[in-house]
Amino acid sequence: MKYAITGATGNLGGQIIEQMLKLAEPAELIALVHTPAKAQVLVEQGIAVRPADYLNVASMTQALIGVDVLVYVPSKTYDVVQRVTELQNTLQAMKLAHVDEIVFMSFFADQENNPFVMSPYYGFAPRALAASSLKYTVAKNSLYADPLVPYLPELIERQNVIYPVGNQKMAFISLEESAEAFANLAVKPQLRNHGETYLLSQKKAYTMIELAAIMSEVTGKPIGYQPVTLQEFADIYESDGDGSELSSMYAGGAKGLLSEVSNDFEKITGHQPSTMKDFLYQNYRK
Ligand SMILES: NC(=O)c1ccc[n+]([C@@H]2O[C@H](COP(=O)([O-])OP(=O)(O)OC[C@H]3O[C@@H](n4cnc5c(N)ncnc54)[C@H](OP(=O)(O)O)[C@@H]3O)[C@@H](O)[C@H]2O)c1
Repeated sequence: MKYAITGATGNLGGQIIEQMLKLAEPAELIALVHTPAKAQVLVEQGIAVRPADYLNVASMTQALIGVDVLVYVPSKTYDVVQRVTELQNTLQAMKLAHVDEIVFMSFFADQENNPFVMSPYYGFAPRALAASSLKYTVAKNSLYADPLVPYLPELIERQNVIYPVGNQKMAFISLEESAEAFANLAVKPQLRNHGETYLLSQKKAYTMIELAAIMSEVTGKPIGYQPVTLQEFADIYESDGDGSELSSMYAGGAKGLLSEVSNDFEKITGHQPSTMKDFLYQNYRK
């Protein structure tokens, strides 16, 4: 089998490659990369690297020749129309290259009343797949747990978690576990190809008071919960370039729209995901 993984030099795509190496031969993997100069490590691992640009159908078609299953990790652009175009181009390229199986990475902030600026894209994508003649499955990530780790020093300084979600819970999954689920979906055709929708999350969602208590225990430092307003959150992280976009996501969180959990990770991988406490203990270095 030939498995192609997009975004292979990115955070999630890179981890999917790592997990795929546990389940398939390196010769079965094709890393589709936007910037080939970033792919040296993949080349050194003996993985075929092909240039692929979602915005160029000819490039995508060429990259997909001979592929059996595509694992599609979307780009990170917050331009909804561009992300839609990137997916449409990919679906067109799959047809041209005669590739008919896709595992699509989605995000759980896809409800029709969700104010997250990317919610329209995550609402569109499964419908575009359903309207294609492709065999597909959609695996929605909950929030990545990983960014919490480098965020801890700031939270220790603030002595508080500040997410503007009030009493609502939020659900998380680590990149490593998400990638493990994607790799399993890729190599287990019995789990995909029929329009299945999976939600990748830890078993439990946390209120911010619960999350802060876990963070206090793991770091040994007092961390409470003092939510800022949505506007304050956008302003605080404006210099990171995506303060207002993240604020729109937490506006959904404040409506309880980032809280769903499922047992799908266990169904797909055969074991339970980490708890948040275990994840933070394993990854936080005091
Ligand atoms: N669940 C969550 O909490 C959460 C958090 C953050 C992000 N996300 C979403 O998860 C997805 C993956 O995130 P990530 O952190 O892995 O992002 P990332 O590290 O930026 O990876 C995205 C990959 O897409 C590639 N790419 C960008 N434009 C492309 C194009 N035109 N054609 C082909 N490839 C292109 C990038 O390549 P170059 O770097 O070479 O351009 C990169 O390898 C994104 O859709 C992101 O929005 C989810």
